[in-house]
Amino acid sequence: MSAQDHQVELVAIVGSLRRASVNAAVARAAAGVATAARVTMHDISDLPFYDGDTEAAGLPEPVERLNRVVGAAEGLLLFSPEYNSSLPAVTKNVIDWLSRPPKVWDGLPVGLVAATPGQRAGLGVREHFTTMLDRRPMRVFETLGIGSYGDKLDADGELTDPETLIELADYVDRFAQFCRDGAE
Ligand code: FNR
Repeated sequence: MSAQDHQVELVAIVGSLRRASVNAAVARAAAGVATAARVTMHDISDLPFYDGDTEAAGLPEPVERLNRVVGAAEGLLLFSPEYNSSLPAVTKNVIDWLSRPPKVWDGLPVGLVAATPGQRAGLGVREHFTTMLDRRPMRVFETLGIGSYGDKLDADGELTDPETLIELADYVDRFAQFCRDGAE
């Protein structure tokens, strides 16, 4: 099997805890349309808030699990809402834990997709994400914004808009290539 045939193992983490999260629907759609990558969702609903005392007392099991899953992946894709023009605490909390020892994300490719009801397609969260991680030791990929999501979902809240699915598949496959390029 050549390097190009190999499906890149990506972990997807959603920065929204609500059951009907549109960003979770986008993550599911990404897992369905990707051809160059296998996208596995990782649930962080039991991840505690970062707290230095908790860390000093020994990493809780959900943090250990996060480190294990992200450490084993070839790339990390965050699917995040935009809150108040920036990252929601849920997304930021994942980043804060991952930035701490054992720092499993050193050298890891990271991308972010943001879905919002408005037309700006999460420009604020995407810009803050890129700026924030610029000096970190992981490899930051470009972001993808999906705006006006109300027009792109079916009655069950799943992402079904054909153009958006093509755009999403292209983004994930290019991200997979970015992961491959760094591994060579
Ligand atoms: C929002 N929302 C929002 N949307 C946006 O485009 N820009 C913003 O700054 C904000 N700010 C914001 C703050 C807070 C506290 C909430 C609860 C919501 C709307 C947000 O994009 C929308 O609720 C998404 O559907 C949330 O993502 P999930 O949970 O559907 O994945």
